[in-house]
Amino acid sequence: MPRDASFRDAYGRPLRNLRISVTDRCNMRCRYCMPEAEYVWLPRQSILSFEEIDRLAGIFLDLGVRKLRLTGGEPLLRHDLSALVRRLATHPALGDLALTTNGILLARHADALRSAGLRRVTVSLDTLRPERMASFARTARHGEVLEGITAGTAAGFDSVKLNTVVMRGYNEDELLDLLEFARVRGLEIRFIEYMDVGGATQWDMGQVVSRDEILAAIAARHGPVQALEEHAWAPAERFRLADGTTFGVIASTTAPFCRTCDRARLTADGTLFLCLYGERGLDLRELLRGGASDPEIAVRVREVWASRTDRGAEDRAGLDRRGALYQIDGLRADPRREMHTRGG
Ligand code: GTP
Ligand code: 5AD
Ligand code: SF4
Repeated sequence: MPRDASFRDAYGRPLRNLRISVTDRCNMRCRYCMPEAEYVWLPRQSILSFEEIDRLAGIFLDLGVRKLRLTGGEPLLRHDLSALVRRLATHPALGDLALTTNGILLARHADALRSAGLRRVTVSLDTLRPERMASFARTARHGEVLEGITAGTAAGFDSVKLNTVVMRGYNEDELLDLLEFARVRGLEIRFIEYMDVGGATQWDMGQVVSRDEILAAIAARHGPVQALEEHAWAPAERFRLADGTTFGVIASTTAPFCRTCDRARLTADGTLFLCLYGERGLDLRELLRGGASDPEIAVRVREVWASRTDRGAEDRAGLDRRGALYQIDGLRADPRREMHTRGG
């Protein structure tokens, strides 16, 4: 199959970045992602095997993808994830291989993941207070998350980043503490605006702490914040403080970056979504298991990307009245609408 990185979608966006969800299960229940008491899980037999994921990854790499990110749910709940990393790491066209995790299980897997070829890790850390995490994310395992961050740092990844979703009335009073936590460990933290994605059934604009508020709070304490040049396709804007500390802000809610979106996402059951907010996906599992060849699958992927016109976050930002994207019934009808299923 010819390597082809030249095709673009209807707005000229290239397909460079694939986020692969390896499981829809999670051992946390963050209120911005999984606030409900019960969830409909993907059927076990529909979950792609490592062989199937690896085969699809190869097809995407041939189509020009250079960055792969493993997500979930919580990806480390997938048994022996390092074995998948080892397979993916051997593709010569691969430029980057990263993992987004909640950190609970990272301490026990960090070294194996690193030796298998994982290059970068991003750990979600929304609070430094265990009692807050207990009520907000329904887990008592805050200490394990901190151990995971320490182990990740020690394992020698090319980078370890922290992701903090900022929510009014929950953790906006911890911005400076979290920034300091990251600074002393030499980690880059990114503050993320609360998004009205599928799964965020309690979303309310009043709880969104905007990029401007985040920057103002940091500047009030640390003085002028300098904007850094960042490469055009990254969701995070990066900033530097006078002492050299860098951090990021992902302003998907108030300043969407759809026009520079080069990413597609694969759910654990092999459905391809382009937009985080996308309603319909392409069932690649059916093609894989129905005996389609690699070139046949590549043609289908190429077609859906080439006709892509979605810009979900910008559409949402243009609404007069904004509320949760789906109510719980809509999510139960199709769990692929959930952020925890399509992998953020
Ligand atoms: P880097 O490769 O380190 O730049 O990582 P990343 O920022 O692409 O990945 P990460 O998983 O850390 O993403 C951070 C957050 O950005 C996600 O959890 C989402 O909240 C948000 N995000 C990621 N992709 C998209 C996207 O395509 N659209 C929007 N609106 N937000 C996204
Ligand atoms: N708003 C913003 N980010 C979210 N995530 C999940 N749900 C939301 C939401 N409603 C992201 C967070 C978390 C990652 C796994 O998914 O960045 O760290
Ligand atoms: Fe929280 Fe991530 Fe689990 Fe969602 S998938 S509940 S954001 S830890």
